[in-house]
Amino acid sequence: MKLLILGAGGREHALVWKCAQSRTVQKLYCAPGSEAISAHAECVAIDPADPMAVTGFCVEKGIDLVIVGPARPLASGVADYLRKAGVRVFGPGQAAARLESSKAFAKQFLVRHCIPTARGHIYRTANEAVAALDKMKAPIVIKADGLAGGKGVCVCPDRAEAAETIEDFMRMKTLQSAGDTVVIEEYLEGRELTAMALCDGKNFKLLPYARDHRHLLDGDKGPDTDGMGAYAPVDLDADAGSAIQDIFSATLAGMHKDGLDFRGLLYIGLMLTASGPKVLEYNSRFGDPEAQAVLPLLDCDLVALALACAEGRLAPAEIKLHTGACVCVVMASENYPRAPMIGRPVTGIEDISRSSDILVFHAGTGRKDGRWATTGGRVLGITARGPDLAAARRWAYEHVARICFDGMLFRRDIANEALTPR
Ligand code: GLY
Repeated sequence: MKLLILGAGGREHALVWKCAQSRTVQKLYCAPGSEAISAHAECVAIDPADPMAVTGFCVEKGIDLVIVGPARPLASGVADYLRKAGVRVFGPGQAAARLESSKAFAKQFLVRHCIPTARGHIYRTANEAVAALDKMKAPIVIKADGLAGGKGVCVCPDRAEAAETIEDFMRMKTLQSAGDTVVIEEYLEGRELTAMALCDGKNFKLLPYARDHRHLLDGDKGPDTDGMGAYAPVDLDADAGSAIQDIFSATLAGMHKDGLDFRGLLYIGLMLTASGPKVLEYNSRFGDPEAQAVLPLLDCDLVALALACAEGRLAPAEIKLHTGACVCVVMASENYPRAPMIGRPVTGIEDISRSSDILVFHAGTGRKDGRWATTGGRVLGITARGPDLAAARRWAYEHVARICFDGMLFRRDIANEALTPR
């Protein structure tokens, strides 16, 4: 098979690493990929969110399957163009990808199909949105409708900050058109959980639950980021597990009713509240860095599963897992997430002897004068798989200690909460 993976970050490095192990893959491409990814795949300089360019490449090369990493190509309709050209795709079309690309669409979908979620309303003018704050109890959650690169959700501790966020999003246009419409919703108390499932339009298969660490600093302090680390699996009681199964079933049934065909990875961000799991968000792709913690746990061929999803025949497939747990610690650049300092030499990567248990996923690196250097906010995801969570965590941090770049930032408490009795 000839396989193309779209994207360039840490999640795509993990996808490329996993897919390169498939015996069915004869040629692996990644667009645009990265220097680290080029160790496993031929990188092609194509904008992954340009449907015509991606489709043209696939037709010319006879690509058998495309796996879409990030959200933007899905929102721009890449999967629709590819399907029209007869190319199989793991990733939903533009209409189903609106579950992620429009928070207003997702909220209406959840309410329409009676899926548990936070109470919330949609506002299309700043005046209406600010007026609605009078009826809300703090903290207040403001969500920009469109894709905002991880900057579109704000948990505001009081009314003043909520009004300021609305001003920024809707009047100052700090997120461009992504903030023209907002969803304002109640804050849910509990612990967050990432549930991801492979979907073929009708059936779904859950992957191990994961937990992301979104805040920059230890103890969930500091600004929100795209994710500073993740671990998997997360153990849940049977009631929560069955409620999550029900949420996936209701989501797929709802999409079917609405005429939406979701073939790809459905990510449901949940809050585990005292009254059961509730949906915080949908994403139409693997989480980053959750993928880096979950993919090493799969003891099966991801390409075969992705192809089964693309062809609508996932039902008989079996997802085999390795025993144990996996921890990914993200190392980020100075000043991340505001204005990351880039171009800093990174040492220690070559000293880590890679194995199936110790993995270095590159999110923002490139080669400069023959050495690795930082090119983005998130730089590396140092990942370890161990016989249990404590071992995986210990190994991940032993390898983090070998990496060095000026101003590097990383959390020292990834997975701690699961190892510390509450
Ligand atoms: N880690 C959160 C996300 O991928 O959206």
